[in-house]
Amino acid sequence: MAKYSVVTMPGDGIGNQVLPEALRLLKAVGFDAEYIHADIGWDCWCREGNALPQSTIDLLARYKLGLFGAITSKPKRQAEAELRPELRGKGYSYFSPIVTMRQRFHLDTCIRPCISFPGNPLNFIRKKRDGGFEEPLVNVVVFRQNTEGLYAGVEWTNPPAEVRAALATHAKFKPFADVPGADLAISVRIVTRNAARKICRAAFEWAKQRGYKSVTICEKPNVLRETSGMMEEEARNVAREYPGIALWSTNIDAQTMWLTKNPEEYGVVVASNLFGDVISDAFAGLVGGLGFAASGNIGDEVAVFEPTHGSAPKYAELDPPIVNPIAMFLSAVMMLEHVGETEKARQIREAIAAVVKQGSVRTYDMMRLPGGPNAIAQGAATTVQMTDAVLAELDRILGSDVAAGRELAVAGSRSR
Ligand code: NAI
Ligand code: MG
Repeated sequence: MAKYSVVTMPGDGIGNQVLPEALRLLKAVGFDAEYIHADIGWDCWCREGNALPQSTIDLLARYKLGLFGAITSKPKRQAEAELRPELRGKGYSYFSPIVTMRQRFHLDTCIRPCISFPGNPLNFIRKKRDGGFEEPLVNVVVFRQNTEGLYAGVEWTNPPAEVRAALATHAKFKPFADVPGADLAISVRIVTRNAARKICRAAFEWAKQRGYKSVTICEKPNVLRETSGMMEEEARNVAREYPGIALWSTNIDAQTMWLTKNPEEYGVVVASNLFGDVISDAFAGLVGGLGFAASGNIGDEVAVFEPTHGSAPKYAELDPPIVNPIAMFLSAVMMLEHVGETEKARQIREAIAAVVKQGSVRTYDMMRLPGGPNAIAQGAATTVQMTDAVLAELDRILGSDVAAGRELAVAGSRSR
């Protein structure tokens, strides 16, 4: 029997192209796993009115480890139109399966590393005073609270009378009191102290274990005094337990502006759900963008790893596929680290780093080409060619690791 069982959820569009490529790397490093396929995404919605089928929930509950590709979601009217005719008008409403998964399994800690690979032509560069350019390497890890905040899903258009009555008790609701229900949309931002403390502690713990000098709490407590205020308060409380690590506090709006000023100075960044989503994309843009942005959704029992990109429908039908599989690879690397297979994680990461540095195999995004069927004729690598290049590097790394291992064994036997 395999040591690990991984629920694989390729989902929609390019999720089906990149996830199988990641499995090739996991196999190459000898990750001892069985893979159990699970359905998720748009087809499930159209077929059964639910993008996250119960069978997939059951598999995740059983195996507790998931690798996810991407899903497609579409606006309300289109979702209804594509539903199987028998199900239309029966009260089915689309809800993002990844958000549902996070809430269902309480995957409250989202980790999004934004770390430059030297030699990546998409790396952030900065103009120097003398007119030249410099390329500060970014090493940021964003911790995003993954289950609460504005994504808690407590929202209405035309809120029920009780909700309106409750809101009317707040003085600031006065200007909205007479807005007709159909013209009033409300999303509730919920922060609980336990969850705020937990995400802050996870951020500080990561900083401590991996040698980061600072944790930045990125909120907006001057305006969102209650919710961001509570996040900030808990960050301050937790910081007292970590005397060697500085706590910095920035506002989300200013942070997105400062990001390109001195990104190399940031270490771990922690934020509530929406702000974490925003700031992690912003930092990801400095290290290669969607083709490089990986993430882990971690709960106490279940963990699911996924690239942060979506299903990229406009490229999903291209044959051969052209999208960059590296974000998916890095998600698999995070999974290896999570289960303690740090050596295998290191090997894959090193192989990716070597391919990026050499620069002879680059997907269209790395060449700043428009995506599309012409990209290959212009010198872009296909998805599979990128995997092949990483596999070739892996072969070399595994070979030299084995050789080094042999040498150590020989040295050990000599000294005995
Ligand atoms: P997207 O991430 O799918 O694609 C945006 C653009 O980024 C693409 O058109 C492509 O130019 C580029 N891109 C994305 N992944 C890439 C890769 N691996 N390599 C190279 N280039 C890449 O976002 P978009 O277009 O906003 O949404 C498309 C669909 O995906 C929508 O239905 C959306 O709801 C869904 N989505 C799903 C997510 C998930 O599954 N976690 C996250 C974001 C969007
Ligand atoms: Mg996002």
